[in-house]
Amino acid sequence: MSVTIVGSQLGDEGKGGVVDIYGEEADVVVRYQGGDNAGHTVVLGDETYKLSLVPSGAIRGTVGVLGNGCVINPETLFDELDTLRDRGLDPTVRVAARAHVIMPYHRVIDGIEEEAKADLAAGTTKRGIGPTYEDKAGRRGIRIGDLVDPDVLRDRLEYVVPQKRALASDVFDVEPDETFNVDHLYETYRAYGERLADEGMVVNCADFLASRLDDGDNVMFEGAQGTALDIDYGVYPYVTSSNPTAGGVAVGAGVSPAVVADGDVIGIVKAYLSRVGTGPLPTELGGVEGQTPDYDANEGGDDEELATYIRDEGGEYGTVTGRPRRVGWLDMPMLRHAARTSGFTGIVVNHVDTLAGLDEVKVGHSYTMTTRDGETRTLETMPPTTEQWGRCEATLRTFEGWPDVDWQAVADAGWDGLPDAARTYLTYVSDELDVPIYAVGVGPGREETVVLTDPFA
Ligand code: GDP
Ligand code: IMO
Ligand code: MG
Repeated sequence: MSVTIVGSQLGDEGKGGVVDIYGEEADVVVRYQGGDNAGHTVVLGDETYKLSLVPSGAIRGTVGVLGNGCVINPETLFDELDTLRDRGLDPTVRVAARAHVIMPYHRVIDGIEEEAKADLAAGTTKRGIGPTYEDKAGRRGIRIGDLVDPDVLRDRLEYVVPQKRALASDVFDVEPDETFNVDHLYETYRAYGERLADEGMVVNCADFLASRLDDGDNVMFEGAQGTALDIDYGVYPYVTSSNPTAGGVAVGAGVSPAVVADGDVIGIVKAYLSRVGTGPLPTELGGVEGQTPDYDANEGGDDEELATYIRDEGGEYGTVTGRPRRVGWLDMPMLRHAARTSGFTGIVVNHVDTLAGLDEVKVGHSYTMTTRDGETRTLETMPPTTEQWGRCEATLRTFEGWPDVDWQAVADAGWDGLPDAARTYLTYVSDELDVPIYAVGVGPGREETVVLTDPFA
């Protein structure tokens, strides 16, 4: 059977941790989209693992697969595998021959395009994700299967690299270096291909998973990013370039939609919102310069204080840059949209401990959208255009706050151990979505979770 883990919001909801929690019964963990733009955390006692490409089941020693819907930077993949091995783990990862390769020029172009886009920049991770998916759709990409076939690799490079060099120099006025040199790329990527072949990593993903499913194995699909970052269902153009929603699993891993539908689809929800990057955010508290549209440093007031509290409690600062992330109240229209597009059968709500200590906790229950003609409309889910979303004001509901308590004791005691007010808040979310709560995160560690339902049981 299968279990699919999908981010409900804007990424970083705690998907990696949930994969780890439910991973005990999984035989294979599969990433079906995205690449090293992801950062998934698994916390085990004093050990913290940050994974960007290796599926999060690796911490338990479960076989990981990078499906054809992923874009793969081999350098990141091997660095990550080496680091995990240095830390005493023994990760096994298989890579789809049909997955596309992130080349050095994709990263360079991602960076220069972001600068050129100004207001339309999504604040990407600059990992080359968008440019690689562009080349996939443009039928000029290089796939993992090409790395293990040197003649094909050279042919592909000879076609595409001069185009990229011209783009960099003629359009963006960037002096091309070895990143745009066919011989250099050929040698480097052929070597990656040899290592992939030596370690027996390249597979026909669809066949591999079909035979594992036929054998009765439990397969877990690990989404990256989140629904509001989905290229179709997110806040375009401030999105990533793939489909994190459950529909992405079938095409991104080569399984029938029935495999997904026969199993659970679990939406991972952070108890508030956090956002890395630009675009509107109706429930935002305060704001962050350079990310919040029309940010005004003098407007924050009490909201700014609340934002700082939540940001500090939740550790909402960029892992690389240390930059503050944007934070806001839970956005129910966003969650209704996520639950519907992926067909959630359960949700996991994380970071309930982070909100502890506030007098009141609010949620954006619905939106009031002002049309261009000045009329107002009440919306229960996200509108389809980002321009409309930018004209939505959240109608807030206020809940009683809950105290900071011994969260490990809560996790041990189960649902009844949660503070009353937290249970009221969680029950509201579950009722509004008409989806049961499968687990509640009350801390970053594997044990700091109230597990109500095990989807593999
Ligand atoms: P992902 O990208 O969805 O896998 O999430 P990230 O790993 O990027 O971000 C989630 C962060 O919150 C990580 O540092 C987790 O260890 C942490 N985290 C996850 N669940 C909880 C929770 O319930 N409480 C607290 N305090 N931290 C959590
Ligand atoms: P995980 O899997 C949070 C955001 C970027 C940017 C937009 C596009 O850890 O939840 P991209 O580099 O993908 O072209 O950037 O998407 N973004 C994420 N935000 N968590 C992620 O992944 C993200 N992956 C991409 O900040 O706004
Ligand atoms: Mg993350």
